[in-house]
Amino acid sequence: MKPTIYITRKIDDQIVEKIRETCEVEMWPEEDTPVPRSVLEEKIQKIDGLFCLLTETIDKTLLEKAENLKVVSNLAVGYNNIDIQSAKEKGITVTNTPGVLTETTADLTFALMMATARRIVESSSYLRDGEWKTWSPMQLTGQDIYGATLGIIGMGRIGEAVVKRAFGFGMNVVYHNRSRKQEAEKKYGITYVSMDQLLKKSDFICVLTPYTKETHDLIDEKELSLMKSTAILINTARGGIVNEEALYNALKDNKIWAAGLDVFEQEPIPLDHPLLTLPNVVTLPHIGSASIKTRLKMANVAADNLIKSLKNEKPEYVVV
Ligand code: GLV
Repeated sequence: MKPTIYITRKIDDQIVEKIRETCEVEMWPEEDTPVPRSVLEEKIQKIDGLFCLLTETIDKTLLEKAENLKVVSNLAVGYNNIDIQSAKEKGITVTNTPGVLTETTADLTFALMMATARRIVESSSYLRDGEWKTWSPMQLTGQDIYGATLGIIGMGRIGEAVVKRAFGFGMNVVYHNRSRKQEAEKKYGITYVSMDQLLKKSDFICVLTPYTKETHDLIDEKELSLMKSTAILINTARGGIVNEEALYNALKDNKIWAAGLDVFEQEPIPLDHPLLTLPNVVTLPHIGSASIKTRLKMANVAADNLIKSLKNEKPEYVVV
């Protein structure tokens, strides 16, 4: 008998077909609406495998309802939506999709650096709103990217991919990470610094660390107060790493220059959120890995992880 699996969102037909070769598949039929918790609670009871997105909270209460569950395959590199400890205790494998999204996410990180530094979104609105009356010397002037110092918090795969791009822009790169990355230091000539040094020195600060209990509010009032008044903060990791109230205050009072945010504490960010009233913030709806090719690759990796786990083979990307 084939194992049964549930897919929590409508995904590409070819990927569903591939999973169907080895599994009985049921899928939440909607593309743009998350599966209701009540449906997930019912489905989880009997299935052998779950293919889920970062929009689903796979917590202890949910996992306790599962009788046969062997694997949770997350369609994301981040897995803060899953209670890893509870999964481990129940002997449930958790997998993710790193690697394939590295370059695409680094591209978007760089896009946010450029958009914020050169006031791209603000300038576009300026033109469309009819405010462009003449060319003038200091109109919509921003910050240089070329030659600036980039501070990367979290030197993993995406951090390294951002470093490679930064060299094309003549940037000087410093980084902070839980552990030193001697190989990356040698390979790219980047410098390890303390968190305080990074915050004080950098013109651009990119948050690229996983979201854990330890990194919750890693960038708060104190950290923002150490940054230059011309500093630009970019977050393409997870919203909870930056305290949004502190960030709003720093941006509103021009304590820092700008922020580029692809992620938020609450997603979707409520439309009445104060951050959305500021001209010096570029906000995106969590599209870091959103190229067609990459999202399909991620879905393929997630499918392979699921199938292998259910065949008792070792999947390529195991979290626990
Ligand atoms: C997206 O945010 C991911 O973790 O893959």
